Amino acid sequence: AKDPIRVLVTGAAGQIGYALVPMIARGVMLGADQPVILHMLDIPPAAESLNGVKMELVDAAFPLLKGVVATTDVVEACTGVNIAVMVGGFPRKEGMERKDVMSKNVSIYKAQASALEKHAAANCKVLVVANPANTNALILKEFAPSIPEKNISCLTRLDHNRALGQISERLNVQVCDVKNVIIWGNHSSTQYPDVNHATVKAPGGDTPVRQLVADDDWLNGEFITTVQQRGAAIIKARKLSSALSAASAACDHIRDWVLGTPEGTFVSMGVYSDGSYNVPPGLIYSFPVTCRDGKWSIVQGLSIDEFSRKKLDATAEELSEEKALAYSCLS
Ligand code: NAI
Repeated sequence: AKDPIRVLVTGAAGQIGYALVPMIARGVMLGADQPVILHMLDIPPAAESLNGVKMELVDAAFPLLKGVVATTDVVEACTGVNIAVMVGGFPRKEGMERKDVMSKNVSIYKAQASALEKHAAANCKVLVVANPANTNALILKEFAPSIPEKNISCLTRLDHNRALGQISERLNVQVCDVKNVIIWGNHSSTQYPDVNHATVKAPGGDTPVRQLVADDDWLNGEFITTVQQRGAAIIKARKLSSALSAASAACDHIRDWVLGTPEGTFVSMGVYSDGSYNVPPGLIYSFPVTCRDGKWSIVQGLSIDEFSRKKLDATAEELSEEKALAYSCLS
């Protein structure tokens, strides 16, 4: 039997946490033959609720779940973890300035970076979900210098999956037959959902989405804005932000990273820019990636037309501004 993998979920008493921990305990994230030990962290006001989640995990009698640590102590939470899914953060409340929210999250991510650096297992893989996801991941990277930058990522897989979903609905095809959409940039409304390399599986071979949709106005307009604003649409409908789809996307992100992407398929991950596609190095930016042997690499050589170029640059610009704002909170 395999040794259990320790998976940290911060903000585990929250909405996404509540959807995510049972998925991890069922093997959705790491495979149906992989035992796990869950580490759940939240803050003291949520301690009782966190304990309730722990009780439910016990009650669910998950065969793969070999242990549960539920704590408000960051060091205890981070000790020995192989995977860290950072969902905890300070939410933007009505009337709050962007800078105030940034400042709260910068201090949270700075502290948690140090705890992970000191106490996590060697080669721990980190996924930041909490917003502003890209910039929180960047702060985590900066304050955990001994964790390789290749091990720190942020979630844009939800946006990626939303793009697959929109194409599947539009063409009335199975979502599993659509692949290679790309989310470029920030997990925010400036992200660029790109279908120029996306295809649909058909009996005669993979067919470009552009050819099948044949409505450039929709692809360059409503499709993009629908994906960009899907989070807001969910809040409007549910009066709560997306949680089950976010949890599912977090599982997809880690599963593909650890177990690999299928041949010929790429997915979107927020990762540290090396300057690929002329994205400024030093930002956490969402790129198309493939994964193998536990490592991601940015898909190279895709053509970028003028329309796309502007959109890649605009979202990079926003990330540079966020980075500057985050740094101004540090001083
Ligand atoms: P939530 O408010 O229900 O849960 C957040 C939890 O984090 C709460 O239980 C809170 O007590 C906890 N928390 C706050 N500060 C903490 C700290 N310092 N350490 C540990 N835990 C802490 O929020 P929800 O809906 O679960 O969303 C969580 C985050 O994920 C939000 O920042 C949200 O904006 C973000 N999000 C990101 C998505 C993405 O695709 N990247 C998609 C959906 C949400």
